Amino acid sequence: MTTDTTIKITKITNSNFENINLDDLAFGTVYSDHMFICDYKDGKWQQPQITPYQPMLMAPSSRVFHYGQAAFEGMKAYKDTNNDVWLFRPEENWKRICFSSMRLAMPEIPKEIFMEGLQTLVEMDKKWVIPGKGNALYIRPFIFATQEGVSAAPANQYRFMIICTPVQGYYKNADVKVKISDHYSRAANGGVGATKAAGNYAASFYPTQKANEEGYQQVLWTNSTHEYIEEAGTMNVFFRIGDTLLTAPADERILAGITRKSLLQLAEDANLKTEVRKISVAEVTEAAKNGTLLEVFGSGTAAVIIPITGIGYKGSHWDLPKLENSYATQLKSSLLDIQYNTVEDKYNWTLKIK
Ligand code: COI
Repeated sequence: MTTDTTIKITKITNSNFENINLDDLAFGTVYSDHMFICDYKDGKWQQPQITPYQPMLMAPSSRVFHYGQAAFEGMKAYKDTNNDVWLFRPEENWKRICFSSMRLAMPEIPKEIFMEGLQTLVEMDKKWVIPGKGNALYIRPFIFATQEGVSAAPANQYRFMIICTPVQGYYKNADVKVKISDHYSRAANGGVGATKAAGNYAASFYPTQKANEEGYQQVLWTNSTHEYIEEAGTMNVFFRIGDTLLTAPADERILAGITRKSLLQLAEDANLKTEVRKISVAEVTEAAKNGTLLEVFGSGTAAVIIPITGIGYKGSHWDLPKLENSYATQLKSSLLDIQYNTVEDKYNWTLKIK
């Protein structure tokens, strides 16, 4: 544990807020005024700090650059019509970053450091939470190895940080077609697929570029034998075949998405038929062929719910129908109602920023 958990705060002198055009934001390009930092060294977490958002100096031999010991989280703060700001299931993000850290041989972040740092930072940068459904302050907690030296072993020094970026939608043109992977994988059995290891995302970029060249925005990731569907791009993925909503179990290869888990709960409570089970490529392509594949959508914090408009597999392509009252629309609306505090949160998922 740390010796002093009081956050040392240095405020910005001139906010950058007035210089930003909040109506035209590319995802993650603009940062709020402050950032949270907490270093780990000598076997313990040091005093946390909040400082103006700024570049930092790092030694070229810092281990994160060489061995990729790094993990992150994605979460959002939402503003309601009373200008109150809310977090959504933040303890789930804390648990998951600790799980990712454990798997990458990094120290777990004490809950009070994560939760206090998060709430204080969001409170300080409240004005950066853009109002309006779909808009939010995207929060990026992350941890990485800072120890100098290129020997391939876990570091003994780390930095945990939180930065924030005001966002609108993640996939702006919302025409997301996916290519079912018959070669590349994002995860391995016994690997780190279930974590938010930075390297999982780096490894996905090249296959995604290849898919882009073929006219697909994202890869529909499959298991090691390419028989079962796992995730879509950086999202969990749901299929509606007939009236059943299907998603794959969050196992050691698949991220246990917080949006995924919330949607499953909302779907069950809306009496939609849901099944969490392995979904084969054959089942999906057969349903696409015979017209029973009615919807496919990705879910994630950044994306919320993104309808997938087409699927490609080994040279064949199927477009998905455009449904009037889709499960995706229904579930997204129920989720946003809770996140933006327009309905009572009977699940106790939201946390108000003081
Ligand atoms: C999120 O949805 O928050 C993620 O972590 C995905 C990220 C690559 C934008």
